[in-house]
Amino acid sequence: MTKLAERTKGIKPSVTLAIAAKAGKLRSEGIDVVNFSAGEPDFDTPEHIKAAAVEALRKGMTKYTDVKGIEPLREAITQKYQREHGLVYRKDDVLVSCGAKHSLYNIFQAVIGPGDEVVIPAPYWVSYSDMALLAGGVPKLISTNEATGFRMKLEQFEVALTPRTRVVVLNSPCNPTGASYHRDELLAIARVLEEHDCLIVSDDIYEKIIYDNSQVHNLVALNPSLRERTVIINGVSKTYAMTGWRIGYAIGPADVISAAAKIQSQSTSNATSIAQAAALEAIRGSQDEVPIMVREFQKRRDVIVDRLNAVEGIRCLKPQGAFYVFPNIAPLLSKTGNGKKLGSPCDVADYLLEEAKVAVVPGEDFGSQQHIRFSYATSLEDIEKGCKRIHAAVKKLN
Ligand SMILES: Cc1ncc(COP(=O)(O)O)c(C=O)c1O
Repeated sequence: MTKLAERTKGIKPSVTLAIAAKAGKLRSEGIDVVNFSAGEPDFDTPEHIKAAAVEALRKGMTKYTDVKGIEPLREAITQKYQREHGLVYRKDDVLVSCGAKHSLYNIFQAVIGPGDEVVIPAPYWVSYSDMALLAGGVPKLISTNEATGFRMKLEQFEVALTPRTRVVVLNSPCNPTGASYHRDELLAIARVLEEHDCLIVSDDIYEKIIYDNSQVHNLVALNPSLRERTVIINGVSKTYAMTGWRIGYAIGPADVISAAAKIQSQSTSNATSIAQAAALEAIRGSQDEVPIMVREFQKRRDVIVDRLNAVEGIRCLKPQGAFYVFPNIAPLLSKTGNGKKLGSPCDVADYLLEEAKVAVVPGEDFGSQQHIRFSYATSLEDIEKGCKRIHAAVKKLN
């Protein structure tokens, strides 16, 4: 057996992908599985974006690009931040990578060293803690729950920050909870951060997927004194239904961006050239389809929250953004289904897949022992069908 590097031992493979594989296997056997596990919009990429990629291909844009990304794309990204938040960045402050996941990976590798603490409010997106571990860091989780709408209390945040804190991760709206910080809360968080010399990584990938006319606030715009130590992460996957194109970006202080670009230059080089052309059109072109998708997500959110709250033992907050709900299933954890005791969210997810043929993601990997995650980036018809099946399966528990 090949001796593997130590770094492979402390991290886990993505549970979301494992569930998707199990659901896929059932489907390949002809079983009708309702899939609430996917972390991607079910809409197709808008036509004008696809056309830009076709045009780039036709024009022969098939060569390596600058490691940091093509200049027009980096310029369009800086213009977006100027237009939307009044922030002035230069194109050298932008690094385009193979998805926001890759952007985060590059930044973590660039700034986290052995023993550095990485503060992560929980529940959190699965990859933050494993990426911190891969860089030799120590994740410091701040647990939150329904009582505060899954937003951390300021006292918790103050206690979590220590002189060893190297990075603080913020993600609003949040995957998996959909929680989004209000303006005054972010201002208070920023004031605490003023006192701590750490890098802030603000993962704003769901910034446009926000409901009920609420607004997502940009930390740097709210408190410009944090600009030199804040990296904003964003991308086109979620806003423009472009998960497969793999384009994300980091925008922030030039020294951090250059270090991350150096790491990228020794791994993937540039992100795919024609996907960059598509991302340019996504960011610079018509935004008309974005609110249409968001309105559809909001309709689905309202239905799924209503249907899940009608199931005894499941309690679900109405999220403000992203396309996930994160219901509490604690009352189900003392029950037995198909002769097996449901001792954890993983057991509940397994039971729902076996009994109801419904795929959800267990909360453990998001830092919760009491929740499961549903993505409602699926049709209303499937939401109704899946929730009915869950209702019936939960009734069978004893
Ligand atoms: C919070 C969060 N950040 C980053 C990403 C990565 O997105 P991508 O790599 O597709 O740009 C995801 C994807 O699920 C996410 O949920």
